Parts: sequence; C-alpha cells; structure tokens
Amino acid sequence: MPSLSKRTDLIKPSPTLTLDAKVKAMKAAGEDVINMGVGEPDFSTPDNIKEAAVKAVRDGFTRYTASEGTLELREAVAAKLLRDDRLEFKPSQIVVSNGGKHSLYNAAQCLFQEGDEVVIPTPCWVTYPDQILLSGARPVFAPTKKEDGYVLTPEGLRAVLTPRTKGLIINSPCNPTGSVYGARDLEALVPVVMESDIWVVSDDIYENLLYDSSSFVNMAMVDPRVRERVVITSGVSKTYSMTGWRIGYMAGPESLAKAAAKLQSQMTSNPNSIAQKAALAALTGPGTEAEKMRRTFDDRRRLVLELLARIPLVSCPEPKGAFYVFPDFSGHYGREIEGKKIEGSGDLAALLLEKCRVATVPGLAFMADDNLRLSYAVSEVDIRRGLERIKDILAN
Ligand SMILES: Cc1ncc(COP(=O)(O)O)c(C=O)c1O
Repeated sequence: MPSLSKRTDLIKPSPTLTLDAKVKAMKAAGEDVINMGVGEPDFSTPDNIKEAAVKAVRDGFTRYTASEGTLELREAVAAKLLRDDRLEFKPSQIVVSNGGKHSLYNAAQCLFQEGDEVVIPTPCWVTYPDQILLSGARPVFAPTKKEDGYVLTPEGLRAVLTPRTKGLIINSPCNPTGSVYGARDLEALVPVVMESDIWVVSDDIYENLLYDSSSFVNMAMVDPRVRERVVITSGVSKTYSMTGWRIGYMAGPESLAKAAAKLQSQMTSNPNSIAQKAALAALTGPGTEAEKMRRTFDDRRRLVLELLARIPLVSCPEPKGAFYVFPDFSGHYGREIEGKKIEGSGDLAALLLEKCRVATVPGLAFMADDNLRLSYAVSEVDIRRGLERIKDILAN
C-alpha cells in the first residue's frame, strides 16, 4: 500500500470525542456509566427550531445553498451581533460553516501559516493546538492562573510574544475552566494586541451561558481600535442544544470572509440546508427555551459546587459560564487507590471510569494536569450519583 501523507501525524484525535465514543459504547453494553465527560447540553432542541427544519424538508429546501451560507441566515447572524454585541457586520463579512469548530478551522487556515506563532491561553479547549498545527503555525501556550480567575493578563501575554506572533485565541466563557473575561480584562489586553499587530480569534460559542449576573463581552466590543483585527466565531450548538445540527459562523473583515468562503467552497460546499433553516429559527425565535436551559445549568452548577466542596482535598473555583467545573484534584495525587497509583489526571480519570463508572476528562487534555473537567450538562440525579461515587472512592 502506498504511504499516507504526513499531515495528520501532526495531530491527535479529539480526546473528548474519543472519550465520548468509549462511554457511549459502555452504555450500549448495558453499563451504568455517568457521563460527566460530555461537552454538549442534554436537552432536546427546542420545538420551534425542529419545526423549522421539518418545514424546510416539506418545502423542498433541500438543495445546495451559497457555500458561505444563505443570505437570510447571514443577515440573521449580523442582526444578532448588532442586537447582542452592538457590533455592525455586513452579511458579506459572515461565513456559516459546519459548527463552530469548522469556523475556527477556517479561521486558522485563512489567518495563519508556517513560521507564525499563535498564542493560546491555557487551560484551553483541546482543539485549538491541533487546528493551529494543521495551519502550519506553532501553538504557543500562555498559562493562566487560578488566582487570576484563569484569565490572561497583559503580562502573561507579553511574556510569550515574539516577532513571529500572529494571533491570540480568547475563549470566554472558557471550556474547560468556566472563566469569563470581563470588559476590564479585555481592555487591559488591547494595548498589547495593538503593539504586537496580531489577530484575535474570539471563540464566543458559550456566550449565552453566563451566571451570577456576569455579562458577555468580547474584545471587539471593548475598543473600536481593535475591531478590525478581531475574528468572532460562534454558533448554535451550545445555546440552543443543537450540537448535532452542525451550524457555526465566523464574522470578521470582508477579506477574511472571502478567503474562508473560497476555502469552504472547495472543501465542504454549504453547510446542511435544513440545519441552516433550523439555525435561522434559533437566532430569530423567542429564545425562551434557551433561557430555561441556561437557568437549569445554573441550578446544576450550584449543586455540583456544593457537592464538590464535600470531597476532601479538592478545590474548585466557581465557574461563571459554560457548563463545566474544573476542580483541582492534585491533593490526591501520589496516593494508591484500589491498588492503582494515582500520578496525575490521566490515572485519576481512568480510575473513576473503571471503578466508579464516572466519565470525566483528564485536565492534561486541556494542559492542566492538576484538574479534571466535569460537565454538568447531565441530569441532577446523575450529578448526585456521580459525585457520590467520586467522594466514596477518594475516601478509601
Ligand atoms: C470552546 C469551544 N469552541 C468551539 C466548540 C465547537 O462547537 P461546535 O462545533 O459543536 O459548534 C466547542 C465544542 O465543544 C467548544 O467547547
């Protein structure tokens, strides 16, 4: 057999999706696994959105659309950005893709190349480093601290800048920490961004999942001087419980949108036409179901924090957004539990899955080995059962 190209040797499979597949297989085999590893809401997509999709099928809206997405959907994205973020975009500055992940991929392909460096604050979502590697650029990690609320400081950014730096990725609310950048945090970064002449990719996918009266802000909103260098990516997956529908979007300078549309036209063509109609209903609909889901997440967040506080040697900063907690379990490292030596997050997550049937994601996947990521996008009953099992095994 001839050899494969070397390109995919650069990257690894998504650890969260790999874990999810394993847990689904365990469940299918009848095992009572509590899946706190998931990165998706457990709710059904709201009915008004499903109805829009059914109507699209019935109406025969089943053909190719413009590869950058329908004009009506791009107009709806522009209207949403104006309404929620007070940012003006023309539809020609927006490209709709197959999920926020695809929008980020397009952005990386169009903005970065060999010789560039892209700064990623850590702990970070598992996909950024690999997408940057696929662009030919080098990911450069900027560690953030628990004491700073896992928010990148200007000093933290300056410390990793070089003449090769071409971009910075900001993800707020953040997966995995749940941290949220406030206007002041972003304003403090603006001068450094301007001086160093870099792009800022703002991954706003969790923008509507905020708690404790935190409000959403991205870098383009805090200072008009940086607007033209900020690229926003977001989508409907998390807010509207639409992870399987695969609709995300990117908004940025027209030249970038053109490049991304060209790339997409040669790669996937348009995102699914029916899902585009569904996303249109999501963005233009009443949003009451989305708000209900957000409130339920908030209740679960409080519950998880309360239950975690009862586990000895575990500390957890209060997340202000998304649907994850990122507790520090390193107080248990070095111990032997049920015959297994726990040296780090990988060992602990393996132990929890094997012995308690609780799936969590090792912090190492997010560049933070002291922690595990637990999702509270699971039912209250499962949160209680899962944390009880974790508490019991760690008490051994
Ligand atoms: C930080 C972050 N960005 C982007 C995405 C992409 O979402 P999707 O491709 O499902 O729209 C995810 C999904 O897990 C995420 O956690």
